[in-house]
Amino acid sequence: MEEQTKILAIESSCDETAAAVVVNGRDVRSNIIFSQIDLHKLYGGVVPEIASRKHIEKMNQVIEEALETAGETLDTIDAVCVTYGPGLVGALLVGVAEAKAIAYAKKKPLVGVHHIEGHICANYIEHPDLEPPFMCLVASGGHSHLVKVEAYGVYEIIGRTRDDAAGEAFDKVARAIGLGYPGGPKIDKLSREGNPKAIKFPRAKVEGAPNDFSFSGLKSAVLNYLNNCQMKGIAVNRADIAASFQEAVVDVLSEHAVNAALECGMKKLAIAGGVASNQALRNMMKEKCEKNGLEFYYPSPVLCTDNAAMIGAAGYYEYKKGVRDGLDLNAVPNLKIGQR
Ligand code: KG4
Ligand code: ZN
Repeated sequence: MEEQTKILAIESSCDETAAAVVVNGRDVRSNIIFSQIDLHKLYGGVVPEIASRKHIEKMNQVIEEALETAGETLDTIDAVCVTYGPGLVGALLVGVAEAKAIAYAKKKPLVGVHHIEGHICANYIEHPDLEPPFMCLVASGGHSHLVKVEAYGVYEIIGRTRDDAAGEAFDKVARAIGLGYPGGPKIDKLSREGNPKAIKFPRAKVEGAPNDFSFSGLKSAVLNYLNNCQMKGIAVNRADIAASFQEAVVDVLSEHAVNAALECGMKKLAIAGGVASNQALRNMMKEKCEKNGLEFYYPSPVLCTDNAAMIGAAGYYEYKKGVRDGLDLNAVPNLKIGQR
């Protein structure tokens, strides 16, 4: 029988307090997420200090639930993996301190995990056939990256956003049309009632860097459109704005991702991060991948937004490589992919 490595994974980089038990990187035995969204909604975005305080309050509870659901205890797990960056420093510190306490008290190996590498590895969980090399588009609230996954745990960034992340653009435009936080899922839903061709919003290209993204011009174009309508006393159709904006984002994300995959000679293309649960993005990627002979991979929505199962998946491959962290592990809010 194949040897089993049972990992307890912890995630607290933003506004989800999460713990999971993952066996051999792909078999998720539990995935407990306490979302703080209702708390931060009141303020129109994540309030870092409130996030840290809520993590402290909920952390032990989600870990206990994750262990119980998996039928494990702190004594039966083989290692503790925790997100140590990037993210909000106060939020990260709660998870890191918790993981260190467990590793110290139970004499278990400790492995720090990069949050974005976690998002990428979410793809391994539901696709047993997915193995590197592949191209991955990571689009979340804080990041828009094109990452070449060369081997397990070996990443190369080949494209990035020059300004706003894709999720950030969704959140800002949603706020401008009065949809509230978080904007992504709300724009996704409202778009289904709108016409994506109603308004022609710009598709920005970055001069000399075809794999890079820029979304701030698009966000300004939506704001200008709204101001213009208001000044002229024209009633706006929010569903058409949502659908046209979404189409512009999805068009650029999918085009760059497919081009990058082809340019690097990849046969597989994956998407990851909160924006990867967007239905229009999934549909357009599927279509473009089929047209270009690329195999397309995407995680279930629950594995796209922040969770600890993805940290268990990424952590397992680091653990297998022999990566171990000491009890001096610290939170690194601006941690780069592939950095240690
Ligand atoms: O990966 P994630 O949970 O957290 C970060 O690491 O940032 O991503 C959250 C982001 C938010 O900006 C949210 O609006 C966006 O992902 N998002 C979506 C959808 N669901 C979440 N954007 C577009 N369509 C969605 N269905
Ligand atoms: Zn995330």
